[in-house]
Amino acid sequence: MLPQGVAIDSRTGIVSPSTTVYEKRLSEFRGVYSDTAALDALIASKGDLVTYTVSERKDPGTDIFFGTTVMQPGRVGEEYFMTRGHFHARRDRGEIYYTQSGEGLLLLQSRDGEIRTVEMKPGVCASIPPDWGHRSINTGTEPLVFVWCCNQDAGHDYAEIATRGMRQLVVQRGGMTAYVANPKYEA
Ligand SMILES: [Fe+2]
Repeated sequence: MLPQGVAIDSRTGIVSPSTTVYEKRLSEFRGVYSDTAALDALIASKGDLVTYTVSERKDPGTDIFFGTTVMQPGRVGEEYFMTRGHFHARRDRGEIYYTQSGEGLLLLQSRDGEIRTVEMKPGVCASIPPDWGHRSINTGTEPLVFVWCCNQDAGHDYAEIATRGMRQLVVQRGGMTAYVANPKYEA
């Protein structure tokens, strides 16, 4: 591998050149959003929308990789569009999220259920410590574009968050962003 520059468009999140691009659609999030009826109604009325797109740049011969996530604005019921959320498979691997455009929240949760948030807005680089689960949430009206960077061997552990979600839900109520307890987590 030789040193190189990779262009990232701060508005669209397009990584040039990328090595992998994938999209996530509403239908892949049954059981992730709390309001399943609202999810079904949204798919029925608007179609199986892409909620976020991930563009990766992963090169052999180095330990880190990076890319962008572009999260569309929207809600499923009260809950804002968000990523699935994950811990890393390797418990000693952190990550950074650098927001380029849009506005949102990074919701973090420790293994014993402590919750923290970091505001996502242009110019803020969030440091995710090892062994904190993380989910990004678009609370704005424009696409949320952020660059992430972590070790190639960090891996994903989706199981814990898939089972009961995160401790808090981030919702819009009365035109305001609010945190509410997730009844599925406490059950
Ligand atoms: Fe991660």
